[in-house]
Amino acid sequence: MLERKLKRSEVARKLLEGRLDKSDLLRKHTIADLENARYEVQLANDLLSQRVKERTADLEKANNCLLREIERRKHVERELHMLNTELVQARDQALKASEIKSNFLANMSHELRTPLNAVIGYSEIIEEELQELSLDDILDDLNKLQIAAKHQLVLINDVLDLARIEAEKLYIEEEIFVPSQLIEEVVLTSKPMVEKNNNTLVIDIANDLPVCRADKTKLSQIILNLLSNAAKFTQNGCISVRADIEKEWGGECLVISVEDTGVGFDNSTLAALFEPFTQGDSSSTKEYGGTGLGLAISKQLITLMGGDLDADGVKGVGATFTIKLPYLPIPNVAKK
Ligand SMILES: Nc1ncnc2c1ncn2[C@@H]1O[C@H](COP(=O)(O)OP(=O)(O)OP(=O)(O)O)[C@@H](O)[C@H]1O
Ligand SMILES: [Mg+2]
Repeated sequence: MLERKLKRSEVARKLLEGRLDKSDLLRKHTIADLENARYEVQLANDLLSQRVKERTADLEKANNCLLREIERRKHVERELHMLNTELVQARDQALKASEIKSNFLANMSHELRTPLNAVIGYSEIIEEELQELSLDDILDDLNKLQIAAKHQLVLINDVLDLARIEAEKLYIEEEIFVPSQLIEEVVLTSKPMVEKNNNTLVIDIANDLPVCRADKTKLSQIILNLLSNAAKFTQNGCISVRADIEKEWGGECLVISVEDTGVGFDNSTLAALFEPFTQGDSSSTKEYGGTGLGLAISKQLITLMGGDLDADGVKGVGATFTIKLPYLPIPNVAKK
């Protein structure tokens, strides 16, 4: 019995020893695994620190670049501001100079006109006296003097107009008038010019043109400029003046065109036609005379009146200039 008990306890002891060995092995394995895991964590940690360092360095670099860029932009901004201030000053100076020039031209042209008008006036008195005395030789010379003086007056008037427009001192005065009558009067004035170059004149004015409210004198001046150009640049040809009403700019417009069969112009000339002191080509000045002011003044005048002036032409075939002037409402009293 005791022997059996001893054997059983011997077996139990061996079983326990076996279990102890296993758990010891397990403990050793666990310790090794833990060591490995710690090592890997350490490695990952080192790698992470390294990456954080690299990223921080990159960020610092980018940050420095950004700071430099901000500085550069601030610098450019300061320079732009300075440049802008200089430009504003230069523009103001140029405007001031232009105003002084325009005022000077306006005053000077005005001063030149007064004595010239006296010269023309007195020459007309002398003309009458010479006619009475039948002194034809001197009359001839006097006529030449009158032509030159009148030409000079036209030039001075053109410069005065341009200076007034530039100085914004040219005012539009509105009157009520019958457009067909006005056109006929201007055409009559230009007849000698037109016929001088052996041109025929065609007039085609619509019958029912309503009365106009506009600056009559300036409109006459524009039509006369166009007719004098047509007469000057056309020889043995035809000059047609047409007038009608057209729908334009959301209302009714008085449309007057002056068409000729003269020298015409090409597209490159067209672009500069309305520039002051600009003529079609250098030969124009010598061959036809003029200063290149008529169209520039006409364009600016019609623009001030709320209308427009357009040109169209073909070199060697002819030219057409078209005035468009919006009809302004007529007050009831004036209509009667
Ligand atoms: N009917 C036309 N046919 C051909 N060319 C024209 C005509 N009208 C104007 N031009 C061209 O346009 C230019 C400018 O015309 P503008 O009336 O402004 O000046 P101008 O007649 O030369 O001189 P100004 O009118 O000052 O006496 C002319 O020199 C000419 O080259
Ligand atoms: Mg002209």
